[in-house]
Amino acid sequence: MRRVYFDNNATTPVLPEVFEAMRPYFTEHFGNASSIHHHGQETRAAVERARESVAALLGCRASEIVFTSGGTEGDNLAIFGLARAGDHVISSTIEHHAVLNSCKRLESTGCEVTRVPVDGRGLVDPDDVRRALGPNTRLISIMMANNETGVLQPVEEIGKIAAEAEVYFHTDAVQAAGKVPIDVNRIACDLLSISGHKMHAPQGVGALYVRKGTILQPMAYGGSHERSRRAGTENVPGIIALGKAAELAKAALDCGDLAQMAVMRDRIEQQILAEVEATGVNGDDAPRVPNTTNIYFDYIEGEALVIALDLKGLAVSTGAACSSGAIAPSHVLTAMGLPPERARASLRFSLGKQNTADEVKFALSLIPSAVAHLRQLSPVYHTAQSR
Ligand SMILES: Cc1ncc(COP(=O)(O)O)c(C=O)c1O
Repeated sequence: MRRVYFDNNATTPVLPEVFEAMRPYFTEHFGNASSIHHHGQETRAAVERARESVAALLGCRASEIVFTSGGTEGDNLAIFGLARAGDHVISSTIEHHAVLNSCKRLESTGCEVTRVPVDGRGLVDPDDVRRALGPNTRLISIMMANNETGVLQPVEEIGKIAAEAEVYFHTDAVQAAGKVPIDVNRIACDLLSISGHKMHAPQGVGALYVRKGTILQPMAYGGSHERSRRAGTENVPGIIALGKAAELAKAALDCGDLAQMAVMRDRIEQQILAEVEATGVNGDDAPRVPNTTNIYFDYIEGEALVIALDLKGLAVSTGAACSSGAIAPSHVLTAMGLPPERARASLRFSLGKQNTADEVKFALSLIPSAVAHLRQLSPVYHTAQSR
């Protein structure tokens, strides 16, 4: 059976070049990067080359990159590394659970957290961030690209506000890295997290940019790895893979390769909206990353459509992977003002480098009939039709 994967915001396949780059680090080059003998020196040099590649993708110095186990750890290290009891933190209502739940935990340890809202397009208003500042504000944590809608937040404006107020600014760029250019100095952020498996490197590796001079309280105690910012023997193969993925991502961004992805994404939207009634794109009036679209199909349950499409060979999602199976509608879509039924009727299509125009054609051949079939079974649809 043909299978097409349009759930690249959940995870991406490792690119063959990335796999080839990491492979020798499981076998021939197995040294511990902290060892002083030949084997250690060899892996240390490779880890430092990977650090240079990640730094080049983000526009920072190599020494400002801390390798982590992924986006969740980077977000946690940024937040718990800085915020203390009595501090005030500003975040938003549409963050990934890695930030949302970290902020919840902060509250239980004596921090105050303000969550700024988003408008109907899914955008934070920088003025809301400015208004939320107080004498104890220590950190602003607002994501760069939303994982469910792909909406890009005004991080450069927020960065300016943070700099003027002399408050730390962290941005979760897990869904932005490799999809849009990132320059930490333009954003004026102090911390920025990325994750390997969202950009065609393996699961379980990531990086946190930490601006020079920013002192983080470590989350784990042990050796002085990563300049004492993250103890523990490095995941060398994962780091080599992240370095290679960063190199490929930068090359693709530099030569405008992602325009093709936006064309495929737009084709999905245009054809679905033209062929299927009572549909629309969530966040279509906002700037977005080129690979993501979130579409509502009124009168159906998104989960049912995910299953129906999966049975025909198309993998999509109702939103964040970690919330699938949950009955609650997406916190992102409800924060944008969607009624719960419409939020539950929404599906995310997210493309990756491996996807082709032919796969888009295949997907589009399945969706209208799958939606029509589910609507035939839906009492809500029939009631709406008879009005
Ligand atoms: C925006 C965002 N932040 C953080 C994460 C967590 O990253 P990881 O899976 O590498 O822990 C994800 C993963 O879905 C994400 O989409």
